[in-house]
Order: sequence, then structure tokens, then C-alpha cells
Amino acid sequence: MNELTKAAWYSTFYRNIFTEVSYSNNNNNSKVTLSWNQAASESEFDDSLPHPRATTTQNEPFQPWVSDVWSEAEKEEAEALLQRNKSLCALAPEKAVFFEEAARKKWDLFYKLNGNRFFKDRNYLKKVFPELTQLLFERENEHCYTAAASRRQQDSSTVENTTNDSLTVAEVGCGVGNSILPIIEQVYRKNKETKHKRIFHFVATDFSPVALDILQQDRRYIKAPTYGVRVNSAVWDITLPQSIPTCVNGLADVTIVLFCLSAISPEKQRQAVGNIANTLRPGGTLIFRDYARYDAAQMKLGLSKQKQISPNFYLKHNGTRCYYFSIEELKELFVNAGLEQVELQYIQRKYMNRGELSVRRRVWVQARYRKP
Ligand SMILES: C[S@@+](CC[C@H](N)C(=O)[O-])C[C@H]1O[C@@H](n2cnc3c(N)ncnc32)[C@H](O)[C@@H]1O
Repeated sequence: MNELTKAAWYSTFYRNIFTEVSYSNNNNNSKVTLSWNQAASESEFDDSLPHPRATTTQNEPFQPWVSDVWSEAEKEEAEALLQRNKSLCALAPEKAVFFEEAARKKWDLFYKLNGNRFFKDRNYLKKVFPELTQLLFERENEHCYTAAASRRQQDSSTVENTTNDSLTVAEVGCGVGNSILPIIEQVYRKNKETKHKRIFHFVATDFSPVALDILQQDRRYIKAPTYGVRVNSAVWDITLPQSIPTCVNGLADVTIVLFCLSAISPEKQRQAVGNIANTLRPGGTLIFRDYARYDAAQMKLGLSKQKQISPNFYLKHNGTRCYYFSIEELKELFVNAGLEQVELQYIQRKYMNRGELSVRRRVWVQARYRKP
């Protein structure tokens, strides 16, 4: 395949990964440049992309990602690299205080600038969290459904507007709704198809009022009530004690937390996780994904000047911050909040960039916890 065909092919097939594809030919010195799409490189990757075993038009096999396994030696090497650069990369303490106090403003600004264009819809959630599908779409599924219904029976004297056939899904730190809106749409389509009047209640919360304004203007949010799906949103800073909005206080069958806890400074994460746990009913499930230790983005921030606020916590170019978790830390946080572990694992992948002949090692953590 010549370089030009290659560039065009990459640009179509991998538009989700790369934003900029340029081609130059200087005296037979062909060069193809592929730049990472910020959304794909800073956010987590979309599992719904074409299957990695897809082939090029020339039938060349090409894998954009493969599963990855880190050896202990590699982890130690990454840690040593971060430690060696610690003093060079440290952010001045007064700046760290400034960005802590400006956290909400920085996220507001982020959403003012990016609207709903930055993160891709997370259409893969049903695949990676199968009980979401079971709870939302498989009404007859005894295992999940009976538990929700019996809880509802116990609670029905105290909880307004619920029936044995209702289900509440909350998202904390929902941003502009890239996770919850696709789920809402799937649910109301199903409701419409089956004319089944099961009551769904979705509650989306975030501490950025700008993000919630954008979410509320989305057609899926507006259309949902027409098809029997109740939607609410509430501004909520999950780092504040005793701040939980009543619409989500102990009511959620499922609470979704995606890439939100990492935006919070480590000193406030315990309070945040306690609040998140309080959104769940007894028997409810927490669904969690976030950035993890030695992810390529951490290694880049950890080797850049004046970016490290504290160990594993960094300032990004747009003024928001990001923490990179180990599963041990998360386990401690969730168990301390009284939750029971169902799943806790690293998702590790290598993404190949053939143009630059480089490899990025991405690491996320995925978890499910139950409230007893
Ligand atoms: C990386 S975005 C993820 C958004 C969304 N969950 C998604 O997956 O697309 C992090 C979100 O966490 C929110 N956030 C940060 N700190 C928060 C806090 N203290 N309380 C509530 N939300 C917070 C931000 O406003 C932002 O929308």
C-alpha cells in the first residue's frame, strides 16, 4: 500500500483515534503523520470501535490495540521514572491550592469551550457491564429483577412514586451525558417498542452547571418523558459532606461513576466515595471505570514540567486535574464506604501507531460494587 493510500485509509478507519493525518513527499522521503485524537487519548477508548482484527483494503492485518500485561519489572521501571522526575515535574504548592479552589470553574470552562464534542458517547457500557443490560432490558431476569422488586416492596411505604416495576439509575459526575444519554435512549426505544409501562427514573448529577445545561438541551433528555422515562438532573459536588440531593438519596438500583473520581483530589476522594455509596439502595450496584496507574497519559504528565500536584495526581493543560488509581487504593475506598466487591480489575491495552511506529500503553480500572 503506498503512503497516500495508507494515510487515507487510516483517516477513515481510525478517525476515532487520530484527528490529524498529513502526507508529505519530499524527494521520495515519504512521511505520514498521525496525531492522537485528544478525546481518544485523554479519555478512555471506545470498545465499540471496529474489531481489531479488521484488515486493510490490501488485506494487511492490522490491530489498533491488543491486550497488554505489565510485568512487575515494568511497573517498577515506570515508578522509578516518575520518581526520578518528581522534583522537575512538581507544581508549586500555591498553584496547587489555586487549582483546587478553581476546580468547578475549570470544568465549567471546559464545557463552555467543548460543549458536548469532547467525550464520545460510551456505547460500550452494556457490553462491559452486563448487569446493566439485565436490569434495564431483561425484565424476566429473575436474578437481578426480583432483588430490585423486593427492595421496592420493602421501601414502598417511604418512597414516593415508585412501584414494584420501577428502576432508578443514577450517574454521578455525568458531564454532558455521554454515558447516561445513550442508555436513556435505548431504554425509551425499548419502552416504545414493547408498549411496556415499566417506570424508569434516571438521575444525572455533576458539579458543573454548564455541563448540566448542555445535557438538559439534548434531544434524548427532552424526549425521554414522552416514552415514560423520568429524567432529573441535579448540581452536586460529591466532595461536600451531607450534600446528597433528595432525588438520589438511597434510591439508585444502579449508580454509574465514570472518569469522575479521578478529577477529585485524593484528600477528598474518601468523602466522595461515601457520598456515592449513599446514592445506592440496599442491593444496588455501583458501576465504575477510571484512569489507572502508569497509563500513558500519566507517564506523559509525570514527565512534564510543573504538572505533578501530589503523587499520581496531575494538572492537565486545561486546568482540570487527574488522578491515576491503583486497584488497592480503590478497594480500600469502596470497602471503607461499606460496599462489597463484585469486580475490580485493570483494563490494559497497547495501542499501535504504525505511522509513528509508536505504542501507547493505556491502563484503566473497572469495578462493580454492591451495597449490602
Ligand atoms: C472526565 S469527566 C467525565 C464525564 C462523564 N462521566 C463521562 O464519562 O463522559 C469528569 C466529570 O466529573 C465532574 N466532577 C469533577 N469534580 C466533581 C465533583 N467534586 N463533584 C461532582 N462532579 C465532579 C466534572 O464536572 C466532569 O463532568
